[in-house]
Amino acid sequence: MAFYLVTGGAGFIGSHLAEELVRRGHRVRVVDNLATGKRRNLVHVPGVEFLEGDLADLEVARRAVEGVEFVLHQAAIPSVPRSVADPLTSHRANADATLNVLIAARDARVRRLVYAGSSSAYGDTPTLPKVETMAPAPLSPYALQKLVGEQYCQLFTRLYGLEAVTVRYFNVFGPRQDPSSPYSGVISLFISALSEGRAPTIYGDGEQTRDFTYVANVVDGVLRASDAPGVAGTVINVATGGRVSINALFRALRDLIGARVEPVYAPARAGDVRHSQADIDRARRLLGYEPTVGFEDGLRKTIDWYRASQAAIA
Ligand code: UD1
Repeated sequence: MAFYLVTGGAGFIGSHLAEELVRRGHRVRVVDNLATGKRRNLVHVPGVEFLEGDLADLEVARRAVEGVEFVLHQAAIPSVPRSVADPLTSHRANADATLNVLIAARDARVRRLVYAGSSSAYGDTPTLPKVETMAPAPLSPYALQKLVGEQYCQLFTRLYGLEAVTVRYFNVFGPRQDPSSPYSGVISLFISALSEGRAPTIYGDGEQTRDFTYVANVVDGVLRASDAPGVAGTVINVATGGRVSINALFRALRDLIGARVEPVYAPARAGDVRHSQADIDRARRLLGYEPTVGFEDGLRKTIDWYRASQAAIA
């Protein structure tokens, strides 16, 4: 049994990590400022120690890492358009807080830190799929902030010997992704709109593509990154390796849900990347990672969860 801190552990991806760690018999502490996370995301996970606080405060970061062996740093304000609208708030949550967590982890001599990086760091590179050796080209404050965080991780490995690994996520979706904000992930927004008979909005022509990754694949990749040998200081894509357009996503969800609405088209979003698809060879090689839940299967599981949670409210 090991002692893990999951920052942002009341959020979508963080709560899945906490749940799996508890299932595997580990001790888990969560720190979350509940800006986007929810206490209810953890109610079904027994024995999690919960610390409410904001990691933009170094003292909170120090308290959070006390005694832990592993840090899974998930806390963030994860939205491209929100960062375009309010870069400062995003910067505090995504960049300043990350530096605090790294300092606290270094001083507390944690064994390893796994950082939630983002595919947005690649920007609009002409070549697909996107491989970790490509030069980053962030197109939004969010992308830049997440890139700063991963470069800090690499520096902390080099300068201070802190074992820090970045796992770059690609459009993660699944149960507990919150559809309630206009900045929510597209799959959560489309499922909630289609289930309620509302027309989803597609920004741009809908032919932009994403490597949509079901959350269980990410949990598996992150937990492998927390104990694989020889990965400190590296950046590793964790995704499915495919790509699906927003128009195709809309059609797939409409068919699965059995809705009869048409989408509304609106101008493309500022800072939006055109195509995103991961090369996952490095994850295969270094982590023994293989995606286990495919896109359609993941959509079905997510819709089932959404229906069950709506039924529970009704
Ligand atoms: C980006 C990152 C992703 C990161 C996420 C955090 C890229 C390639 N991906 O996701 O790694 O985890 O930020 O939030 O940069 N869309 C619609 N209608 C909607 C909502 C979105 O058409 O109602 C479109 C967007 O314009 C975009 C796509 O769907 O083209 C996906 O949007 P979203 O789910 O917000 O994620 P990204 O911005 O791609």
